[in-house]
Amino acid sequence: MPQHVQGVIAPGRNEPVRVETIVIPDPGPGEAVVKIQACGVCHTDLHYKQGAINDEFPFLLGHEAAGIVESVGEGVTDVTPGDFVVLNWRAVCGTCRACLRGRPWYCFATHNAKQRMTLLDGTELSPALGIGAFAEKTLVAAGQCTKVDPAVAPEVAGLLGCGVMAGIGAAINTGNVGRGDTVAVIGCGGVGDAAIVGSRLAGAAKIIAVDIDDRKLETAKGMGATHTVNSRSADAVEAIRELTGGFGADVVIEAVGRPETYRQAFYARDLAGTVVLVGVPTPEMKLELPLLDVFGRGGALKSSWYGDCLPSRDFPMLIDLHQQGRIDLAAFVTETIGLGDVEKAFARMHEGDVLRSVVVL
Ligand code: APR
Ligand code: ZN
Ligand code: ZN
Repeated sequence: MPQHVQGVIAPGRNEPVRVETIVIPDPGPGEAVVKIQACGVCHTDLHYKQGAINDEFPFLLGHEAAGIVESVGEGVTDVTPGDFVVLNWRAVCGTCRACLRGRPWYCFATHNAKQRMTLLDGTELSPALGIGAFAEKTLVAAGQCTKVDPAVAPEVAGLLGCGVMAGIGAAINTGNVGRGDTVAVIGCGGVGDAAIVGSRLAGAAKIIAVDIDDRKLETAKGMGATHTVNSRSADAVEAIRELTGGFGADVVIEAVGRPETYRQAFYARDLAGTVVLVGVPTPEMKLELPLLDVFGRGGALKSSWYGDCLPSRDFPMLIDLHQQGRIDLAAFVTETIGLGDVEKAFARMHEGDVLRSVVVL
């Protein structure tokens, strides 16, 4: 029997989000219905609401979530009802060209639920990143459910579903930060702070946090930054070079997503160093660099999609490290809110007041 639950939808471009009754079909083959316990508010949800991702309104927002599997469809064996899971937006297919070459973290044909969730009048909803978890329940592909230790609070575990994973993965997966490396992180919101946490975990010797907001730099210190630079009052490139013996950092992680901060990242790294772009630019942004500098400085210019994570490998590992006290995922939860507070949370996010607001159900 299809179920009726409450969920947060974005009805149209830049219209305020609202709580509506949504219809969840029974899980079909390969699908699962998950009872959501917590879901973080991410920039991408705001981008959906603004129409910046695509025009397929109405959206069912939310995609950074943890919950309990309620029911599964035919052929689902990896998860069973009662399992505590973090939802992921990289349910790998196993058969695309990336998967076949042993690089499933790049999978180009990830799975989502085949059936659609709808409004009461039958209008089909587009779930954010194929998840839609600002809702009491949601329908996903079973592969989007990654089992983790239920001892961790859902509002903490759910963070791995998007932003925190993207940041930690930018450092440990994409940037390959290793013991003794010098790292600079430009932009210290939730994603940049997670990159700091990942760099520290990987054994970085120096972690330089760069932001234009002193409050963010203070938080970054708590996350493991060894040095801070306010790039409103100082030249970021000069400051990073000064702190690294005049050479630049081995790895610079750009967690803003703007041409000017990308240029800083490009020039603030040592010869043969690595730039990791994890901040998401907008379509009109353009980058101009002397091609000779791109060649002459060598190294690697990389982008990090979802922290190049493999959920089945990375989520349980990070939950273990959190439980051992080697990383503190709880530090990212600024506030817990209700389903009706998402619009307010977008405003707070815009003001830079929060690392993460997390809807708790
Ligand atoms: N230089 C340095 N820092 C900057 C600059 C700048 N020119 N502009 C903004 N910042 C800082 C902000 O002060 C803030 O601390 O970047 C940080 C961005 O943080 P959030 O807005 O909290 O964003 P976050 O969730 O961390 O995501 C960062 O990654 O996933 C993408 O879409 C997301 O592009 C965004 C980026
Ligand atoms: Zn694949
Ligand atoms: Zn997200």
